[in-house]
Amino acid sequence: MALSVAVVLIGIRLRKQTSKVAQASRQHSDDIKGDIQGMSHKGILVTGGAGYIGSHTVKLLGERGERIVVLDDLSTGNAEAVLHGELVVGKTGDRALVESIITDNDIDTVIHFAASTVVPESVSDPLKYYGNNTCSTRNLLEACRNTDVRQFIFSSTAATYGIPENADEPCVEDTPTAPINPYGTSKLMSETMLRDLSAVTPLKHVILRYFNVAGSDPDGCIGQSSPNATLLIKVAAEVAVGKREQLYVFGTDYPTRDGTGVRDYIHVSDLADAHLASLDYLRSGGDSTLMNCGYGHGFSVREVIDAVERVHGEPIKVIEEERRAGDPPSLIAATDRIHKTLDWTPRFDDLDTIVRTSLEWERELQRRARSQK
Ligand SMILES: NC(=O)c1ccc[n+]([C@@H]2O[C@H](COP(=O)([O-])OP(=O)(O)OC[C@H]3O[C@@H](n4cnc5c(N)ncnc54)[C@H](O)[C@@H]3O)[C@@H](O)[C@H]2O)c1
Repeated sequence: MALSVAVVLIGIRLRKQTSKVAQASRQHSDDIKGDIQGMSHKGILVTGGAGYIGSHTVKLLGERGERIVVLDDLSTGNAEAVLHGELVVGKTGDRALVESIITDNDIDTVIHFAASTVVPESVSDPLKYYGNNTCSTRNLLEACRNTDVRQFIFSSTAATYGIPENADEPCVEDTPTAPINPYGTSKLMSETMLRDLSAVTPLKHVILRYFNVAGSDPDGCIGQSSPNATLLIKVAAEVAVGKREQLYVFGTDYPTRDGTGVRDYIHVSDLADAHLASLDYLRSGGDSTLMNCGYGHGFSVREVIDAVERVHGEPIKVIEEERRAGDPPSLIAATDRIHKTLDWTPRFDDLDTIVRTSLEWERELQRRARSQK
């Protein structure tokens, strides 16, 4: 009784939408689609499914007919971005709520995106990050243990590596972790809790350490909407469409090919797809594992700016600044493990495609803002 009242109070909302057929379906998805349709899988709880990466994953899950419940407090996410399944507005740290969602919806898998994600904010307000990321994940894991959830996929980050010693080499998963900000530490602590719980229960997990996520859904219906974004391609796209005046480049004297920092940019739809491949891996009995998620090659800040200007067709205003503390010269994912473990073939490994979809989404956001006036 108390629980159902709580669910009503936080405003449960049903959004039954017709699944769209995936426009360009993945090979491995096609291969297993028959199996999946032939089996009746249990439901999936997606935390943070109204956010940037979560909403792209929900879209792909919905397109292949998975039964989804999204739990999101809408602190940075948008209800409109949840294209499939049911949205419950609430917090991952609310153990009683999570347990009731899992039990009521016959859920055996959790895909956990929900987190606070802004690195500078984590430095100025560390307890927010240990609270919302680490403590909330602890409560979520307790709810999973109490309700016998069997599969857990966790959004982790390359920030757990800190500044790898050998910046010229791609970062392998065994690189010692040494986060240099509370955001990275809060995620690493969540990884540790998840591993420790899996060791003593039937829970199996996949930890995905994302590198730099960028781009937007190629259909143009969802994208990255968070205000005050700090990630390069999003910010550059905002400058291109006139939402910001200029782009700051921090550091032009790194030991890289053009002096600016190099990063591994992965398109958000490929990343979303890696979650579906992780789900299939766990469902087919795969062991708990941790994998980098990137393309295994990188672009410098200048190369990204060139791509934005090329795709946009006009120069953007750039201001060069000193290096920022804590930025490694280069951060590239070693990707052998993910390719060996998952049936995952990226489809958008092309900088201009990443930039084009980002620019299209910025224009779409502007159109939506104008139509609301
Ligand atoms: N964007 C990147 O480049 C990147 C890189 C590495 C890792 N990650 C990880 O990916 C995940 C998703 O990031 P994103 O970029 O989509 O961020 P986002 O802010 O767009 O999405 C996070 C979502 O979680 C929700 N949320 C936050 N705290 C919550 C809570 N306690 N309970 C319920 N909902 C909550 C927010 O409302 C939002 O919808 C995060 O865990 C982040 O650490 C992101």
